[in-house]
Amino acid sequence: MQKTIFITGGAGFIGSHVIRLMANKYPDSRVVNLDALTYAGNLENLKDVESLPNYVFEKADILDTKRLSALFEQYQPDAVIHLAAESHVDRSILSPLDFVYTNIIGTVNLLHAAKDCWKENYEGKLFHHVSTDEVFGALGTTGFFTEETKYDPHSPYSASKASSDHFVRAYADTYGLPVIITNCSNNYGPNQFPEKLIPLFINNIIHKKPLPVYGDGLYTRDWLYVKDHAEAIDLVFHRGKLNETYAIGGFNEWKNIELVKLLCKLMDEKLNNKPGTSEALITFVKDRPGHDRRYAIDASKINEELGWKPSVTFEEGLSQTIDWYFDNKEWLQHVTSGAYQQYYEEQYKG
Ligand code: NAD
Ligand code: TYD
Repeated sequence: MQKTIFITGGAGFIGSHVIRLMANKYPDSRVVNLDALTYAGNLENLKDVESLPNYVFEKADILDTKRLSALFEQYQPDAVIHLAAESHVDRSILSPLDFVYTNIIGTVNLLHAAKDCWKENYEGKLFHHVSTDEVFGALGTTGFFTEETKYDPHSPYSASKASSDHFVRAYADTYGLPVIITNCSNNYGPNQFPEKLIPLFINNIIHKKPLPVYGDGLYTRDWLYVKDHAEAIDLVFHRGKLNETYAIGGFNEWKNIELVKLLCKLMDEKLNNKPGTSEALITFVKDRPGHDRRYAIDASKINEELGWKPSVTFEEGLSQTIDWYFDNKEWLQHVTSGAYQQYYEEQYKG
């Protein structure tokens, strides 16, 4: 093997797409998936990758420093792509400390393990930190986030990701660790845990349950198909400039209520429902505290420097996503049994 790449959080939503892409595209690289398999991690996401000779799974918690040291010692990785995180804003409002531990302390543990392993011999090494546009806070009706936007996080999730980004830069400035940070907008696509807007609403429409739209439904997000994010990570990882940041977005802003109506229309068509059947499930519920009004990314830098742009339209991506959930009802059933029900009741109680 020419290279060993640690990918953390590879059993999660975005991580599993990054693993699939890297393990297939670079057969001479060994791809090691480090994942604690929390509620969001699921090895079923990687069934088609398991048998590849260059793929290895290691169940590992990034809070376990001894285990991290042992894994760095054993594999001597050339690079880390760090995706492991607590990732859901609503859960961060219910349990902020979990986000402090995994997203901040876990990231510092990983940075430190890489630094100790690489012993200042940084030639050919890279720590690629995968982060979010939510670190920049909220936009008004105009303007875009860029790589230069000042950090202004509002939720415990975004505050923990902002902090992790700062630690990544601190390790670069203090110890010379070669790093790259990518800040991406909202992802959607196959394998997303049905706590996030799109898969939650697909699952609820399948089960004819209410679609809980927070507040006035006029909050705006910039949506990117997960496979396009994985492609962007691959490009930046291989060709991005060291110690720089890349903002990644879909050039695809939607107000939540408009998105939900489009989703309802596509679902009705695919389910042979009478038009309007799914829309009738829309229920406005109490708002999320600290809810950021609008996110939108100006992804010019990655577009101009690396030639990246999204490959699918939103309608195509949504349609493929819905088809995936229809074709993977067992997956959906597994992840929504047990603890999911408790979370749902707590989050959506009146
Ligand atoms: P996810 O919640 O689907 O998956 C997270 C993965 O991390 C899971 O496999 C989980 O088991 C693992 N994990 C959690 N805690 C861990 C720990 N202590 N040790 C080891 N593994 C642990 O998340 P996602 O949506 O795929 O997001 C992946 C990354 O991308 C996160 O860092 C997130 O902040 C970032 N991001 C997500 C989005 C989005 O829209 N989902 C957008 C931009 C950036
Ligand atoms: P989400 O998928 O949780 O992503 P994020 O909070 O990281 O942007 O939410 C996307 C948008 O949808 C956000 O404005 C909150 C809203 N939303 C609802 O209206 N109802 C819901 O049940 C959920 C989960 C989200």
